[in-house]
Amino acid sequence: MEKVLLPHTDLEVSRIIAGCMKLGGGWTPGVAVGEAHAAQAEAFIAGALDAGVNYFDHADVYAWGRAEEAFGRGLARQPGLRPRIVIQTKCGIRWKDEPVGAPHRYDFSRGHIVASAEGSLRRLKTDYLDILLLHRPDPLWEGEEIAAAFAELKAAGKVRHFGVSNMNAGQMAYLQHFLEEPLVANQLQMSLLHNGFVEAGISFNQASEGYPQGWEGALEYCRLNGVALQAWSPLDKGLLVGAPLSDLSPAQRAAAELLRAMAAEKGAPPEAIALAWLLRHPAGIMPVLGTTDPGRFAACAAATSVRLSREEWYGLLEAVRGRPVP
Ligand SMILES: NC(=O)c1ccc[n+]([C@@H]2O[C@H](COP(=O)([O-])OP(=O)(O)OC[C@H]3O[C@@H](n4cnc5c(N)ncnc54)[C@H](OP(=O)(O)O)[C@@H]3O)[C@@H](O)[C@H]2O)c1
Repeated sequence: MEKVLLPHTDLEVSRIIAGCMKLGGGWTPGVAVGEAHAAQAEAFIAGALDAGVNYFDHADVYAWGRAEEAFGRGLARQPGLRPRIVIQTKCGIRWKDEPVGAPHRYDFSRGHIVASAEGSLRRLKTDYLDILLLHRPDPLWEGEEIAAAFAELKAAGKVRHFGVSNMNAGQMAYLQHFLEEPLVANQLQMSLLHNGFVEAGISFNQASEGYPQGWEGALEYCRLNGVALQAWSPLDKGLLVGAPLSDLSPAQRAAAELLRAMAAEKGAPPEAIALAWLLRHPAGIMPVLGTTDPGRFAACAAATSVRLSREEWYGLLEAVRGRPVP
């Protein structure tokens, strides 16, 4: 597994990140974290480490806090492991009825950011977070207030670095203006099927129906400022690599068939080819895997040993677009 030094930090991290959203029973409501969830998290951490993945992605809201809680219990079973792994979590989403009567919303107030990070520390059973991301832009945000929250968490030794998720270039620039330290990451949905990050750059001056708005300058901002680009849902939930071909649209089917043909030719799993398509982009994209299957980690880890040629990369793009680039 390729390791990289995360820009602006001393963290040596795997190029592929383990997403923890489905731990703790996933999005099934009304479940309490139990022994089985702790054991699953322990096996999940071990499977990731075996595949060379040392970077774990959380959010305070995943499984309503149960994902962090299960991970914390799994981690506690392995004394001495904490310094060998990198833990990232997110804050800023608040559920409906928390407190009772409140709507579903985003909250980048100083009080909420600090309280959320402290809740994550408790559930994860750790005394520091390596990285804290703001999960989704809060239209009511104030740069000064976020900067104060970050400074408070940093001064207390509770969070080492900060980043964002689902933010465009202007939002990153706005926030960075108020911060003393550089943002280290932006986590965005990027994959073969969710390919707006590529399409926006190709056809910005020929925008037509379906043109992916909002991407202009986002990759360039990250590349110029050393903000690590992280891809959530990098495997489109297994659609191209695992679903029956009969479930797919004609373009998806063509892409899935090409992926499988490339996989057979290179002796690599289809998952590895789909991820290698993201890795081939020179922005240094880091896929955040959603699997809870320790065996799938190894299949995905093979991606860092596959380098697609320019022709193979464009071939897959043409297949998912359903037409050649202009
Ligand atoms: N920042 C954000 O707003 C945001 C939003 C969503 C997610 N995330 C992060 O991104 C992570 C990944 O998201 P995701 O779960 O949507 O990613 P994903 O990796 O695209 O999808 C994971 C799902 O695909 C299935 N899958 C993968 N390969 C397969 C195959 N060959 N055959 C059948 N099924 C296959 C997995 O099943 P198995 O478990 O059986 O392998 C799992 O259910 C999350 O855990 C979270 O950390 C962030």
